[in-house]
Amino acid sequence: VSLRSFNTFGIDVSCQEFIEIADENQISALYEDGKFFQQFFILGGGSNVLFTQDYPGLIVHMNNKGITHFIDGNFIYVTAKAGEVWNDFVWYCIERGFPGVENMALIPGTVGASPIQNIGAYGTELMDIFYSCQAFDTLTGIFTTFRNPDCKFTYRDSIFKSIHKGRYIITSVTYKLHLHQQVNTSYGAINEELRRKGIVSPTIKDVAEAVSHIRVEKLPDPSVIGNAGSFFKNPIIFTGQFEKLQTDYPGVVSYPVDTNSVKIAAGWLIEACGWKGKIEGNVAVWKSQALVITNLGEATGSEIYTVSSKIINDVYNKFGITLEREVNIL
Ligand code: FAD
Ligand code: EPU
Repeated sequence: VSLRSFNTFGIDVSCQEFIEIADENQISALYEDGKFFQQFFILGGGSNVLFTQDYPGLIVHMNNKGITHFIDGNFIYVTAKAGEVWNDFVWYCIERGFPGVENMALIPGTVGASPIQNIGAYGTELMDIFYSCQAFDTLTGIFTTFRNPDCKFTYRDSIFKSIHKGRYIITSVTYKLHLHQQVNTSYGAINEELRRKGIVSPTIKDVAEAVSHIRVEKLPDPSVIGNAGSFFKNPIIFTGQFEKLQTDYPGVVSYPVDTNSVKIAAGWLIEACGWKGKIEGNVAVWKSQALVITNLGEATGSEIYTVSSKIINDVYNKFGITLEREVNIL
């Protein structure tokens, strides 16, 4: 099976076996068949993976669908199956007036992947609304429930991306929203966009539309040009190191984390190394966002990986900061 249409980088690789999950009840039978005692990988929308070679095992593609909710006092619990498109879940909430997800409109991918790296954008993170998830343990063959604190969410990370990487198949996620939550327009770009449209008291729909507009302007559309969003995480460094960096480079873009650490805009570091818009063979660093690496059409995963290594080297040599890849490399 070719995986080209199953990853947003558009990398043309194959796998040995491909199974689509349309219903979570299929999973136990796969376990009984021993499918999880060989090499396997759980795939959602393929918007955060880079295949650098043919996959020598089983790809389990999550495609189970369904969204339900119930309201309990001021809280709304929305449960979505893993294979639901994340943005469909976002609009399910917006159409019903459920606040809390609007800042994360138009993030690509599936509901099932949303806890993996604690997705986030424009001032909101998944961990702010995550209540629990159902997951199948491929080691023991049983379903378990993870509550929010169990997942140990931090910036672009959770137990599903670190200590338990590849072990659990998330089959559904329950989000807890608050009926009376105020809109969050703290992210500068949202404010600018709302002002441009003359909106003074934005609704959640206004915020979702503003965010979607900003995203379309800034990020390449994967259906036109292959990419996986930010290729690297924004590095978090100690305050002391930051102060020294700021003395040498007063323009460096940063966000406070806590008293000990500061998050640096990796896009700024990469741009400062001259990589923004740079083309290397079939690979290009995006012209309006240096954190995004793109496939000009015929790139292989290893060509993209090589460019990412060069960027890591250049940023390290100039700033002494080691960038970490956000994308899952296979
Ligand atoms: P995949 O790429 O299919 O998988 C990603 C990882 O999750 C893999 O390790 C996979 O094994 C695992 N996984 C997937 N589904 C399951 C499951 N059901 N159970 C267990 N493991 C699973 N991310 C952000 O956080 N914020 C952004 O603003 C953002 N913007 C983006 C913009 C663009 C244009 C693109 C292409 C990507 C962007 N991303 C962003 C990255 C991506 O959208 C998210 O990481 C998303 O959650 C990936 O979902 P997916 O279904 O495509 O996951
Ligand atoms: N910047 C530059 N040059 C660049 C890119 C960015 O100087 O080429 C500077 C600018 O000053 C800009 C600032 O960096 O204002 C921040 O840029 P942006 O608002 O685009 O956000 P980001 O920090 O680059 C992060 C996430 C995105 C998320 C946005 C919005 C990470 C790794 N990336 O990007 O998530 O959409 O914030 O919240 O945290 C993803 O994870 O795939 C992703 C796209």
